[in-house]
Amino acid sequence: MLAIRHLSKTYHADRSLVPAVNDVSLDVPRGSFFTLLGPSGCGKTTILQCIAGLETPDRGEIEIDGAPVYSSTLNINEPPNRRRLGMVFQSYAVWPHMTVFENVAFPLRQSRPRLSRQEIGTRTKAALASVRLDGVADKLAPFLSGGQQQRVALARALVHEPRLLLLDEPLSNLDAKLREEMRTEIGRLVRELGITAVFVTHDQIEALTMSDSIALMDGGRVVQQGAPHDIYYRPQSAFAARFVGNGNIIPGRVALGPDAEGNAEIVTPFGRVGCRLPTGVAHGSNIDVIVRPDAMRVCNGEAPTEETLNFFRIQISQASFIGDFIEGIAHAGPATLRVRLGPHTAIQPPYVAVVEVLTDRCVVLPRRD
Ligand SMILES: Nc1ncnc2c1ncn2[C@@H]1O[C@H](COP(=O)(O)OP(=O)(O)O)[C@@H](O)[C@H]1O
Ligand SMILES: [Mg+2]
Repeated sequence: MLAIRHLSKTYHADRSLVPAVNDVSLDVPRGSFFTLLGPSGCGKTTILQCIAGLETPDRGEIEIDGAPVYSSTLNINEPPNRRRLGMVFQSYAVWPHMTVFENVAFPLRQSRPRLSRQEIGTRTKAALASVRLDGVADKLAPFLSGGQQQRVALARALVHEPRLLLLDEPLSNLDAKLREEMRTEIGRLVRELGITAVFVTHDQIEALTMSDSIALMDGGRVVQQGAPHDIYYRPQSAFAARFVGNGNIIPGRVALGPDAEGNAEIVTPFGRVGCRLPTGVAHGSNIDVIVRPDAMRVCNGEAPTEETLNFFRIQISQASFIGDFIEGIAHAGPATLRVRLGPHTAIQPPYVAVVEVLTDRCVVLPRRD
């Protein structure tokens, strides 16, 4: 539906060059909810603005519905209003002097050929109903809550039935409770209407819960792309493991093996683990073991000896009560390990615990250093 090929964009600011987007290629299937996820400054907004036609790329191709809207090779650059897209920004950008109805009707009043009053009325009311704002159509926008203003922006983006809905961090200005509500609401709406959405966020929870597919970005590039489950459980880099899911990254070395099946023993600062290695990782290599909270079990009872594989005896030096769990932090040299303990664990650091590492849920990555 949306295809981006080799998109690059460098800003020229104060005689310095800022490479914002660097050779990005993406495919967004029709009807899918696609998310650009990454830290602030990684180029997400720039990509969205290039899709919308609000920024001009340096080179690359952007195709919507099989037709180029931008192409550096064919010298095509369609103006934003011809691209038929809907856009929602982080700042709601609703007009304060207009009623809710007028805000949403605005794009229809601008459209050429002109639409009849009746047509505008019908379509505006339908858009308001879809975001559950039909009760406040006559209110002036500033009298609405933040969540309602966000819905106005959403209805306005949807009213002219865009080919593609672009959402740039639309939930960042809402408080936690409302953010969760709007997350569900936007997800529902996009699926009900069957529209294709490109969503931008730096929030891993938003990305994981809302998306069919995620492109994880770092420094202007897409570093990994896949379904939320893949991105979470199969990080391809330490960056991905750290950015999504708070993975522990434990440095280690392949001390025994790998055997014909790829099984090996790894020495880490916390203890030894038996793990399957990815192909190409040889005996003696330095690697990182990614251990997420759900790949560990804190054990009671008999402490295993130091040679027992997959059991770490750790000393927790710091503990934080999070609500439904306690997060304990243990150090071994420069390496740290975060573990989750039951919320009622009586823990007084320094506290010695034994954790079992569930190695089939761990990921081993070759270390690049
Ligand atoms: N108009 C601009 N002029 C100069 N630099 C910009 C401009 N817009 C963005 N940048 C820079 O480009 C990079 C990518 O920005 P942006 O696409 O906004 O990232 P994100 O949305 O992921 O936070 C950043 O380094 C940012 O400072
Ligand atoms: Mg941005």
